[in-house]
Amino acid sequence: MQKAKHDTVLVLDFGAQYSQLIARRVREAGVYSIIVPYTTSAEEIRKMEPVGIIFSGGPCSVGDEGSPRPDQDIFSLGIPILGICYGLQVMSTCLGGHVDCPEKKEYGFAHLDIVDSTSRLLFGVPKLSQIWMSHGDSVDAMPEGFRRTGSTPNCPYTVIENDEKRFYGVQFHPEVVHSHDGFTMIKNFVLRICKASADWNMGSFIEDEVKRIRSIVGDRQVLCGLSGGVDSSVAAVLIHRAIGDQLVCVFVNNGLLRKNEAQNVLDLFGKHFNMRLQYADAEEAFLSALKGVSEPEAKRKIIGKLFVDTFYNEARKCGKIDFLAQGTLYPDVIESRSPSGGPSATIKSHHNVGGLPEDLKWELLEPLKELFKDEVRDLGRELGLPEELVDRHPFPGPGLGVRCIGEITKERLDTLREVDAIFIEEIRKAGLYKEIWQALADLLPVKSVGVQGDGRTYREVCTLRAVTSEDAMTADWYRLPYEVMQRCASRICNEVSGVNRVLYDITSKPPGTIEWE
Ligand code: XMP
Repeated sequence: MQKAKHDTVLVLDFGAQYSQLIARRVREAGVYSIIVPYTTSAEEIRKMEPVGIIFSGGPCSVGDEGSPRPDQDIFSLGIPILGICYGLQVMSTCLGGHVDCPEKKEYGFAHLDIVDSTSRLLFGVPKLSQIWMSHGDSVDAMPEGFRRTGSTPNCPYTVIENDEKRFYGVQFHPEVVHSHDGFTMIKNFVLRICKASADWNMGSFIEDEVKRIRSIVGDRQVLCGLSGGVDSSVAAVLIHRAIGDQLVCVFVNNGLLRKNEAQNVLDLFGKHFNMRLQYADAEEAFLSALKGVSEPEAKRKIIGKLFVDTFYNEARKCGKIDFLAQGTLYPDVIESRSPSGGPSATIKSHHNVGGLPEDLKWELLEPLKELFKDEVRDLGRELGLPEELVDRHPFPGPGLGVRCIGEITKERLDTLREVDAIFIEEIRKAGLYKEIWQALADLLPVKSVGVQGDGRTYREVCTLRAVTSEDAMTADWYRLPYEVMQRCASRICNEVSGVNRVLYDITSKPPGTIEWE
């Protein structure tokens, strides 16, 4: 991918877990950045005209046989290079230095000591700075022309620099937040050393992406499954900006959506953005398929299968389609790498679309694939999507189907929708929505006795759950203030006729999951 208009910094990927994070930090500095495999030749790189190259870290040791090496000619391009961790080691090896590769590897915090105050990479960094270090292999003899500017007690050559060639290397990970001044170092490299102009922002992303989508799609048609969530909404609006009515969106109402959600989606995308929208109101089909089913896996299977059938049925009504657009984000792309074959990406089918049926031959269009979630939210704002949509918590594909515990009926779903709406409204009113990763309500198939007015009630129990998390792999329960809990409980019992008892879930993940199912 070539972006001639903006200065670009290439991240040469040696299989690091953090390659995307490096690219993201560079973009945060206002400079466009993309990742290319380490096998990219010097000639290809020269054609891309990057203003700088960052060698990522990687799982290999330079001492391993067949460990990944860049094209040696990259060092003759006259382009500044920053090597990070493995990137430093491989650069040192290629340039005639030596790397010590002990058996034992350690990871952890360390304090970087600046030993040469004229360092260009460490400009503005305090003399002692916390870094996230991977001890293990380390340079024990620098290549010719380098000087040492930073060290730690266990690693003398933690930062090395060659100003003449503009080659720099760090043993630690400046891209992670645990390296307190890491972003300053990345900015020093990108802005001061590469002299990139910091003129890239989400507006530029839109401009570039609109051009790219137009050139890929030409006069063909794109289909996008709209769920009402952030990712598919942003992808759809971006693609719509590029190709207008060549995009058709399919929106399936499975009857398991939140209160007013279907109407909101129709209003926003159909009326406000004026998109072609194929709406399938499949509520009754879903409810009848789910009748009498309480076992969680059975429910999921029914919901998943019916969604796929409904989606493709609608798609067939949309005329000839050539592309399927998906709001796949970087974290959805699971990277699996082999040291010799370079990085390869497998796509997680997280949009519940599954494999394509035989008769539908579509190419994938994934305009958000290089972005992180918060970048996608910024992009959504820039595209004019409302804040309530852009900052939305994740919502599972099977929707309230995994939150209506026991048998799913229209009546119970309506009860749950009311509970959920009150809970979310109170969290928003308290200004806590953005602090929380996900807030959800479940309806339990358990009745308890209560008293209301003069009468005894016998109604269902609901649970409220709010969690903080980085990536949903682990989560902690959110310490919701008592006043907010109290307002939720009192409103729910007063306003929702099917419920007379409210519980707050204080289980972390693990051992609990986020959804109850
Ligand atoms: P659990 O419950 O496993 O959930 O802790 C982790 C995250 O994944 C979401 N989730 C889903 N998302 N389809 C989705 O698109 C699903 O079937 C699904 N199940 C769980 C859940 O809401 C949480 O954010």
